Amino acid sequence: MGKPGVIGLFDSGVGGLTVAEEIFRTLPGEPVIYFGDTANVPYGGRSAGELISFGDRIVSFLIEQGAKYIVFACNTSSAVSLETLSRRYPVPMMGLIRPGARAAVEATRSGRIGVLATEATIRSGAHIQAIQALAPHAEVFGMPAPRLVPLVEAGELDTPRTEAALRGYLEPLQRRGIDCLLLGCTHYPFLGGLIRRLLGPGVVVVDPAAAAVAEVREDMARLGLLGPPVLNPLHRYYVSGDAVSFARTAALCTRRGPFAVDRLRLTG
Ligand code: DGL
Repeated sequence: MGKPGVIGLFDSGVGGLTVAEEIFRTLPGEPVIYFGDTANVPYGGRSAGELISFGDRIVSFLIEQGAKYIVFACNTSSAVSLETLSRRYPVPMMGLIRPGARAAVEATRSGRIGVLATEATIRSGAHIQAIQALAPHAEVFGMPAPRLVPLVEAGELDTPRTEAALRGYLEPLQRRGIDCLLLGCTHYPFLGGLIRRLLGPGVVVVDPAAAAVAEVREDMARLGLLGPPVLNPLHRYYVSGDAVSFARTAALCTRRGPFAVDRLRLTG
């Protein structure tokens, strides 16, 4: 029969849509509720206390809305608040750090892995720990990239400004001789074309979304949380900031749409 309910996802903005897209491909019969915390974007410069409190309000909202499973579609929250919040609520949750680490370890040949992520994610050391737990001899080079999330949120996916910012972040990693770059922030796959062009064919670019959603599917199956499959499920989108600008950027980034988005101020 399967269990009714929705999959809840959240991010600071449009980034988590890279994970939502993967859910639509892999679990097409499951309705999704997405929360973009655009009143508080970017998360990368936030403290652990702030990230836990934002995540707490969002998780509790998603559960009220019937979430049977929650995906932290944000590496920063996965690195900083997932552990605390998964102890606070009875609903199963999945983040992106471990699946991303696994995908990077599978992709690298030389064991020299670059991680491009937000400042808070790099500061947490979460990717290095997760990668070295799987491959103790891997060398991991973290690069905080604070300019990228505001550029993606502004819809600047392939502009001279974005290219200049990316060059500044990627060149030091290239000098380290990486053969694999892990996209450690869910906004970055929207820059994937540009990133691949700048790195050239010698570096594999890893987006953790596919590995994460494969784990979500396995986990939900194990817990009896899949389906009943819904034909054309209704997906809902909420943001804490401007709904019109989110809908515009979401359509530009995903090349889908139109997005019906509601604005919601979470309190508590
Ligand atoms: N997309 C998020 C991540 O994966 C958050 C980025 C931000 O708001 O700084 O880390």
